[in-house]
Amino acid sequence: MKRTHTCGELRAADEGRSVTLQGWVHRRRDLGGLIFLDLRDRTGLVQIVIEPGSSAFAVGERLRPEFIVELGGKLRQRPETQRSTRLPTGAVEVVADTVTVLSEAKTPPFVLNNPGEAAEVSEELRLKYRYLDLRRPEAAAPLRLRHRVTKAIWDFLDAEDFIQVETPLLTLSTPEGARDYVVPSRTQPGSFYALPQSPQLFKQLLMMGGFERYFQIARCFRDEDLRADRQPDFTQLDIEMSFVDQDDILDLNERLMQHVIKTALGCYISVPFPRLSYQDAMNRYGSDKPDVRFGLELADLSPIFAGTTFRGFASVLAEGGSVRALPVPEEHALSRKRLGELEAHAKTYGAQGLAWLRRECEGFAGPIAKFLTDTEVRALTQHAQGEGDLLLIVAGHTRVACEALGAVRLRLARELALIPEGELAFLWVVDFPLLERDDETGGYTYMHHPFTRPREEDLPLLHAEPVKARAWAYDLVLNGFEIGGGSLRIYTLETQLAMFRTLGFSDDEARERFGFFLDALAYGAPPHGGVAWGLDRLIMLLSGAGSLRDVIAFPKNQRGADPLTGAPGPLTQAQLDELSLRLAEHPGGHEEGA
Ligand code: AMO
Repeated sequence: MKRTHTCGELRAADEGRSVTLQGWVHRRRDLGGLIFLDLRDRTGLVQIVIEPGSSAFAVGERLRPEFIVELGGKLRQRPETQRSTRLPTGAVEVVADTVTVLSEAKTPPFVLNNPGEAAEVSEELRLKYRYLDLRRPEAAAPLRLRHRVTKAIWDFLDAEDFIQVETPLLTLSTPEGARDYVVPSRTQPGSFYALPQSPQLFKQLLMMGGFERYFQIARCFRDEDLRADRQPDFTQLDIEMSFVDQDDILDLNERLMQHVIKTALGCYISVPFPRLSYQDAMNRYGSDKPDVRFGLELADLSPIFAGTTFRGFASVLAEGGSVRALPVPEEHALSRKRLGELEAHAKTYGAQGLAWLRRECEGFAGPIAKFLTDTEVRALTQHAQGEGDLLLIVAGHTRVACEALGAVRLRLARELALIPEGELAFLWVVDFPLLERDDETGGYTYMHHPFTRPREEDLPLLHAEPVKARAWAYDLVLNGFEIGGGSLRIYTLETQLAMFRTLGFSDDEARERFGFFLDALAYGAPPHGGVAWGLDRLIMLLSGAGSLRDVIAFPKNQRGADPLTGAPGPLTQAQLDELSLRLAEHPGGHEEGA
């Protein structure tokens, strides 16, 4: 027999039809001598009835959840009182006259037919049995969305004359700021491939190869501390274009995103997206990936405290730091306990403490209120206009003060439920600095990557004051997550060497590491630039999933391991020998070749 229909497509209009279905027993109930099944396939559920006199009854009695069956029967409308509005097939049922078991199934280690219960199951267990987990429609939904998004990307970029090109996975290190995953070479003992952190250099080489418009749904590998929005092995939509400026790239991305959201979700988003400079993002939201779905913007109190007698603030300002505040309106009345918790939170971001001032009818109350002069009080009332309004204050290194308050802002918004659900707030953060100080080496390190083009007018700053140089770099932010990043690239050998020098590489060192790339530049590169979207992150946000793990078919857990296959695993001694590898004694007691 072949199946004639899928479960989810049956409707009242099909009444009287003979149908053959194949699928999973989702649920079985015995009621007054009748057996009711919910049969499930990829398209949905339909109710099956097996009547006591039926030749299918004996098999029906044997069925357990997750058995896979083929059944034949007739479709009928359910009695009026027994219709379900919950399911699209809720008006019909199939009266089965044959049932064949195609596969039996052990009792699953967790309940699959009750979304509430499934949510309680430990993630580790769900990942170990991911193939069972994926049978739950809620677990499969993000992957279906992911497919629609990927297809929309292909269609749009194909129509815009982009070509999809695959780039190698066994390659040399690409500097994206994380540690590499490496693969030993058998034929060249002592040599290693690195898995790409991104296809950055290859896509630039493709521009030098004349393709002009490239994209790839590319796997990337980064050995870094894992968080809910990071996986060691993740996917980018990678794009590169020649003969374009920043506006061309942002415009293409906006139209692409608009198309993706429309086709995959059926929603309209307006473009262009707002643009915020890096400086404004830090000053106003304390983050380079601000969540702008709610207010609570930060204020700079440094000018107000310029002449303060309060030593804590005065010393910070004397050292070039600043005093920043998060004004919180009175309606959110924060208890002392909550202030304590927020202070602890701010400290995890490097703040020395979290001072506060509460507006009273005259002046301010709070631990540092006694230091305030009348002029300061008057100026501060600009930021705390109503009685009971609060100023949460961090004084310190400007970036630390902003970031600590940015973290407090986010936490407060979550705790006070200020974030509107279902809104998609896209924005570009632009005008990034090219470099930042590297506290470890005392030198400079890149903010994006070493191939990012400096603003032409800032080139002289590469020698004079590197941290003041601005980059042609941009990040795409959605609801407080960085979902993409890119830049215009350096396309002359001279500028690339100058950049490496500023990063502390001699020309010889640069040649040693990136000789192939410098050679390519010497043969002429078109002006080019591009972007990469974190595809997993985008799907996570569009599907409302709580973590990247929910949008990846077989993800790694928080320790970077795969509970399903057991990866990473040891090698046999024979494999180690073949690769000319010897394991060092490991403090954890890892035995050689174990
Ligand atoms: P970048 O390093 O900003 O840029 O990466 C681009 C986007 O990839 C996503 N992302 C991740 N997603 C999941 N897990 C991770 N570990 C992870 N790391 C990054 C983020 C990020 O915005 N080659 C450049 C792009 C370019 O310049 O064109 C690059 O890789 O959403």
